[in-house]
Amino acid sequence: MPLKIAPSILSARFDRLGEQVKEAVDAGADLLHIDIMDGHFVPNLTMGPVVVKAIRPLTRIPFDVHLMVSRPQDFVKAFVDAGADDLTVHVESDHDPHATIKLIRDAGVKPGIVLNPATPFEKAVPYLGEVDLLLVMTVHPGFAGQAFRADVLPKIREARRYLDVQRLRVDLQVDGGVKLDTAPFVAQAGADILVSGSGIFPDHVRENLRRIREAAQSAAADRR
Ligand code: DX5
Ligand code: ZN
Repeated sequence: MPLKIAPSILSARFDRLGEQVKEAVDAGADLLHIDIMDGHFVPNLTMGPVVVKAIRPLTRIPFDVHLMVSRPQDFVKAFVDAGADDLTVHVESDHDPHATIKLIRDAGVKPGIVLNPATPFEKAVPYLGEVDLLLVMTVHPGFAGQAFRADVLPKIREARRYLDVQRLRVDLQVDGGVKLDTAPFVAQAGADILVSGSGIFPDHVRENLRRIREAAQSAAADRR
């Protein structure tokens, strides 16, 4: 499967969000990563379903909605109605992930499970038969523009090995501090989808995306 790039609009200029979304799509973004924060699960507030709904008509590429919220089960319907194509939820949130995953699946979109940097891989294992995505965070969630945590690379490799050995059809996504200099490590560790916020937005979106994709693809090729 070719490597996918998911620009995170959290680093876009919100005074011209629509234009920035179109720039990312025109630059070849495979998915659009949308960071939802509630000021409770993480110490920051970002966007709600109204923003997702507002940008939905601009493109047909999948909307990858990352829920950094407490009680994610309470927000599934609102984000699906707004136009999400997948919803990823943290194992660390206040919920029964099995139930939330089923709720997401039953709502007709792809479910995913997310691990914070400090959470070991085995916490995701009970859910891997039920999800389409596994998101491994390489920063502590809450803010764009943080430094990549290279100490998470062994967990990415561990996840890659497990998914391959078990032959699970789960995309391995990596989020946090992924940019030109770190994307090769992430690709070489076996990620399928690279999320990048400040590595792509707000300026030179096309150039940034192209360079990250090239660097990641050649690192992924080295892996094989
Ligand atoms: C962090 C978010 C990330 C973030 C990525 O809490 O989940 O998606 O926006 O931004 P960069 O790539 O700048 O770390
Ligand atoms: Zn994210």
